[in-house]
Amino acid sequence: MKRPISKLFQSALLSAGLVAVAAVGTAMAQDPADAVKQRQSQMKEIGGAMKSIQAFVKDGKGTAAEVKTAAETVVTTGPKFEGLWPEGTAVGFGKSEAKAAIWTEMEKFAKGFQAMGQQAELLVKVADTGDRAAIGKQFGALYETCKSCHEAYHED
Ligand code: HEC
Repeated sequence: MKRPISKLFQSALLSAGLVAVAAVGTAMAQDPADAVKQRQSQMKEIGGAMKSIQAFVKDGKGTAAEVKTAAETVVTTGPKFEGLWPEGTAVGFGKSEAKAAIWTEMEKFAKGFQAMGQQAELLVKVADTGDRAAIGKQFGALYETCKSCHEAYHED
């Protein structure tokens, strides 16, 4: 069964309660080179957020409140990946590290962002408890969603 990609991203969005952000994301028609640049910079942003959470979990650096903010960054950035995967921007195009499989499995790929958003939302909630062990556990669950998508779709 094929569903339009935008529908998938939208359902991910609805679950995150970020409908307003969705409208903005969808409205952006992108030049392919810009799309690659933007998706990479967004990945870097969530990468930075994950690093700061990891520093709290592993070394007790920062606060649970900062973990919450970082997890919220992942939640709000997820839907912004919509529309940033135009055809022809797999590995070989500029500095893209996106595997060609993305374009044959777009539905599965989009679901990866959905999973990421859901686990990040859970981390936002767990951060409120301030319980470092519980935060560590949920951080692990969120990290798994990065890893499993990267294994399938990110060329290293
Ligand atoms: C649904 C798939 C998917 C998920 C989920 C995902 N990524 Fe990525 N990520 C990619 C792809 C594809 C690329 C390569 C993009 C490109 O080069 O065009 C990438 C690239 C990156 C990069 C390199 C950016 C650069 O060019 O310097 C970082 C860092 C990164 N991701 C971090 C994360 C983190 C952290 C998470 C989880 C919080 C995450 N990603 C979740 C697919 C995903």
